[in-house]
Amino acid sequence: QANERESMYLVSEYASNYFIKTLWESELGKAIGLSYFKERGFSDDTIKKFQLGYNPDQWDAFTATAIQDKYQLEYLSKTGLTIVKEQPGGPPRTFDRFKGRVMFPIHSMSGRVLGFGGRILTNDKKAAKYLNSPESDIYHKSKVLYGIYYAKKAIAKEDNCYLVEGYTDVIQMHQKGIENVVASSGTALTPEQIRLINRLTKNITVLFDGDAAGLRASLRGIDLILEQGMNVKVCTFPEGEDPDSFSKNNPYEDVVHYLEQNAKDFIQFKTSLLAQEAADDPIKRADTVRDIVHSIAKIPDRIQKEIYIQECAKIMQISEEVLYNTLAQIDKKTV
Ligand code: CTP
Ligand code: MN
Ligand code: MN
Ligand code: MN
Ligand code: MN
Repeated sequence: QANERESMYLVSEYASNYFIKTLWESELGKAIGLSYFKERGFSDDTIKKFQLGYNPDQWDAFTATAIQDKYQLEYLSKTGLTIVKEQPGGPPRTFDRFKGRVMFPIHSMSGRVLGFGGRILTNDKKAAKYLNSPESDIYHKSKVLYGIYYAKKAIAKEDNCYLVEGYTDVIQMHQKGIENVVASSGTALTPEQIRLINRLTKNITVLFDGDAAGLRASLRGIDLILEQGMNVKVCTFPEGEDPDSFSKNNPYEDVVHYLEQNAKDFIQFKTSLLAQEAADDPIKRADTVRDIVHSIAKIPDRIQKEIYIQECAKIMQISEEVLYNTLAQIDKKTV
């Protein structure tokens, strides 16, 4: 079993190197893949650091080369790099999973290649924008954070971790000089992912996209982070912007300043959402208070709970006593 996984690591490493070589050395790679990354504003150094690659739109260019180089179809298939189609009365047909895509390798905490995300180069709405490696014995999506290998030192040093949605958000922020950043990439945030961060810092700042999906995902993330006794702040971006576009279009000082000015603790974040909706609607106000107390109920530490109750009481202009009663009711229901 350990040998099987080792073989899967090795073929993933091989694939990563193949995609890098194809990006930098093949005519198609240079003309299509490299120009795509440059148009996005990635420097040569950044492209190399994140080990970005390319696989052209061909049937089995990668798989055929890997087989020639003596990698076994079994592991190409188990890592999802090659798709195997059985054929009645003939040998199975094989083709590359990732075709006509720029490649983002996904690394473990220690830098081993676990899987890939591949992006199409157009904004064609019919095709899935990103295709990801399937779950496998080496790639457990719920336990992986994109960028953790590159970010771990900076997270510990800054004692804070920025959590973003996507590959390009991580890369663009790094290039801008903000390196304590990782992405949940494609999966809804999981407790295991938060535990990975918890080993390095107790502080997470959620930076999700300035759209409805990003807002929903931030709200879901908050409670998961609080449950693990960590501190969470949320910083939203203007409509239509994400950390990638924002850090691409602004100088380092402005990005840092924006993050400092707009990072709110979760109570401020939830109350400001309400303020946008209907501050003078008593029913909505009551819903928001209940929502916030539900989040506070997730915090394991009693002192921290109390501090947040006080903050909520002040901001929402509700007595602490009522909030404590609500909290007690929630605690009763969940035990
Ligand atoms: N994602 C995915 N499959 C999709 C769309 C998105 O796996 N079909 C994941 C990717 O990891 C992506 C993240 O969700 O990076 C965030 O999605 P989105 O904001 O739509 O993409 P961006 O990262 O902003 O991608 P880009 O800037 O390249 O358009
Ligand atoms: Mn397993
Ligand atoms: Mn988005
Ligand atoms: Mn985005
Ligand atoms: Mn984007």
